[in-house]
Amino acid sequence: MNILVVGSGGREHAIAKTLANSPVTKHVFCAKGNPRMVQDGIELVDISEIDGESLVQFAKEQQIDWTFIGPELPLFHGVSDAFEQAGLRVFSPSKAAAKIEYSKDFAKQLMVKYHVPTAKSATFSSFDLAKDYVLEHGAPIVIKADGLAAGKGVVVAMNTDEALEALSFMLLDGAYANQDDVAKVVIEEYLEGEEFSLFSFVNGEKAYFAGISQDHKRAYDHDLGPNTGGMGAYSPVPQFSQEVIDECMAQVVYPIIKGMKQEGCAYKGVLYAGLMMTKGGVKVIEFNARFGDPETQVVLQRLNSDLATIIDDILQDKEPVIEWKQNSITLGVVVAAKGYPSQYEKGFSLGKLTPRDSEQVQLFAAGVNGNQGEYIANGGRLFLVSATEETAHKAQKVVYDYLQEHTIEGTFYRHDIGYHVVNWEKKYSE
Ligand code: AMP
Ligand code: GLY
Repeated sequence: MNILVVGSGGREHAIAKTLANSPVTKHVFCAKGNPRMVQDGIELVDISEIDGESLVQFAKEQQIDWTFIGPELPLFHGVSDAFEQAGLRVFSPSKAAAKIEYSKDFAKQLMVKYHVPTAKSATFSSFDLAKDYVLEHGAPIVIKADGLAAGKGVVVAMNTDEALEALSFMLLDGAYANQDDVAKVVIEEYLEGEEFSLFSFVNGEKAYFAGISQDHKRAYDHDLGPNTGGMGAYSPVPQFSQEVIDECMAQVVYPIIKGMKQEGCAYKGVLYAGLMMTKGGVKVIEFNARFGDPETQVVLQRLNSDLATIIDDILQDKEPVIEWKQNSITLGVVVAAKGYPSQYEKGFSLGKLTPRDSEQVQLFAAGVNGNQGEYIANGGRLFLVSATEETAHKAQKVVYDYLQEHTIEGTFYRHDIGYHVVNWEKKYSE
């Protein structure tokens, strides 16, 4: 099989590498990808991830069997629809289905209609009405811009001043006008609990569990600092039993995809459920129309089955065989440019980024340029280093030992990735 992956980050590195290692694939292309991918047998294609027409043309020329779109932006630009319209197979949602990610209001309406547990909320486009609502309900309260905001459109306000400031920024400054050009916000009840991400492979009304992970969204240790795209992750999440996973599939995933089919926007591809385990059970924080980044880098290492065969089977409406590794855990730490997620430097050297096999780690690159001789920083999140061990504690040690021995000027990382599970392991072993 020849496969095209669209995107260029760590997530796409993991997807394309897993596919390139499959016994059933011949060529795995990535548009645009990043130069570090070449070492893993991935072929780079110099086409923008949102240029549906050129991607379709390339897929035809190279006899691509199917395409996998990694990030949300191409979905919003209808790239998946462009493939469908050309009669080409694609394992990604249409623009209409991806709305579950880029419109918080749409996602909320679906969840309410199809009885999917989530935080109570209300949607506003009027600043005055939104302000009244905030003053009535008080803090903590969560304000979400209705539109694609690259993970920056959510403010968890711990006091009302913060909440009003967010409303002013989102509604009056027009920072986040959505596709209808009307700025809207969803104001949501603050949920307390442990957060996790659950992925499913979906095709219409069929869904298959595709991994569970816990990400660390704040920039600094102890969950301090600004929200980021994610600073590290591990999989599986042993604090949550198989029973919890089954409950998430039954109460969240199946009802939402059934609802989407009924609404005329059937879902195909990977569905990301961002969940909170509250005292009152599991509740949805958000849906994304894609795999998570950095969760994918660890989740795909858990697969014992062949990813290319799984997707090919699902696309042919065959029952896939999906088996997972047991008795170990994979943990990954993101290395970012100093200053991320605000302003950061680019252009400094990252060295060779090639761990030796004896170092037991896997590396997935994101914001990098350059070549095998020397990679150069070209983004906020630069790369992720991961290890798979019997316990999270051991995996942490392997990753952090590696990072300490390979320090890179101008970068930083969190030192506590996996602390929830390490604490849980300590308690469990007592
Ligand atoms: P999102 O962009 O929706 O993932 O939100 C970013 C982060 O804000 C999430 O990962 C949560 O940590 C936090 N968050 C979002 N919604 C809520 C909520 N209703 N209650 C508490 N925290 C939330
Ligand atoms: N790691 C969070 C996300 O992919 O949205």
